[in-house]
Amino acid sequence: MAKKTLDTLADQPLEGLRALVRVDFNVPLKDGRVADATRIEAALPTIRWLRERGCRVVLLSHLGRPKGTPDPKYSLAPVVSALESALGIPVAFLAEPMSDEAVRTTKQLKRGGVLLAENTRFAAGEEKNDQGLAERFAALGDFYVNDAFGSAHRAHASTEAVAHLLKPAVAGFLMARELAYLGQALEHPARPFVAVLGGAKISGKIDVIEHLLPRVDEILIGGAMACTFFAAMGLETGISLVEAERVEMARGLLERAGPKLVLPSGAVVAQALAGDAVVRTVARDAIEVGWAMYDVDPATCSDFRTRILRARTVIWNGPMGVFETPPFDRGTLAVAEALAEATQHGAVTVVGGGDSAAALAAAGLSASITHVSTGGGASLEFLEGKTLPGVAALDDA
Ligand code: 3PG
Repeated sequence: MAKKTLDTLADQPLEGLRALVRVDFNVPLKDGRVADATRIEAALPTIRWLRERGCRVVLLSHLGRPKGTPDPKYSLAPVVSALESALGIPVAFLAEPMSDEAVRTTKQLKRGGVLLAENTRFAAGEEKNDQGLAERFAALGDFYVNDAFGSAHRAHASTEAVAHLLKPAVAGFLMARELAYLGQALEHPARPFVAVLGGAKISGKIDVIEHLLPRVDEILIGGAMACTFFAAMGLETGISLVEAERVEMARGLLERAGPKLVLPSGAVVAQALAGDAVVRTVARDAIEVGWAMYDVDPATCSDFRTRILRARTVIWNGPMGVFETPPFDRGTLAVAEALAEATQHGAVTVVGGGDSAAALAAAGLSASITHVSTGGGASLEFLEGKTLPGVAALDDA
């Protein structure tokens, strides 16, 4: 069901209203500063649009995983200055969003002003989707905007319950963009449609594979999860990460998928995961006892590149190897480059957040992709075909 978006409020008198905006400012911090502002920048179109219409903008977000109680380590205070530089205006900080004083502060905020409330997860009811807490959140605004795609898979008080209380409840521009790109790829892909899936464990990707299999033309598999498929084919996998309890399932998938499931033809192997380890490139049926696969081999990179360049829609989720530890980053880099090349040739390329987005950023290729999702878990659950509670709770279009 399509959801109401912020632009449907364009002809409404919004001047002076308090927009309660759930954003995902769950950003990495280093030495008390924001280390990567991608998620902050992604929320700017919504914040700017509301400011231009004279709204008082009240932002809610979580940061990290505090245990339902205030913990200075997870304070959103360091995000204020990053937001100020991004917006070019002063941003106020609401340290006690649950107090009566907080409601007064939101009402006293000047038109076009922006206020960032302290971590929603400092309140015990947030992760329990508590109604009472949602009521407190709702008191901070006159209407609700959810722009936190990265948190849309969580049914929490600030993402779900509040959307039933504060109306209208609409999707912000980032949320709408994420849903449009991911939804378009799944429902009306230009073909050929190729999915590239990687990561350590097949268990985390089973539902994605199941959901994508009837929709895509090919699924290219990389990362350590390829080894569970190798084991299912009866190949020696040495000390590679194999999920023994998933081998049977992998065998079933291989049978059902036939040529749609494309596995690496070879691996970069070592006896230990270290940058200075002795490294060998071997065919997938030549992994020896005592050796582990840490990346796909160059032949696989070139095969995957050819398949990606043939595609008109590509979805990528999960690294091809241990990309944090060079030289095992080459497969992931090759996929990132192939996606950028495909985009240049007119393909629609969509990258699920998390590790693949980090690898793209490290390669300086984020801007060369059609859409890089700001959601890790959320984009994965979307690709699994699951309903995202933070989206479902918004007003229908
Ligand atoms: C994320 O970074 O994936 C989102 O902000 C959700 O965070 P969570 O996994 O702690 O709920």
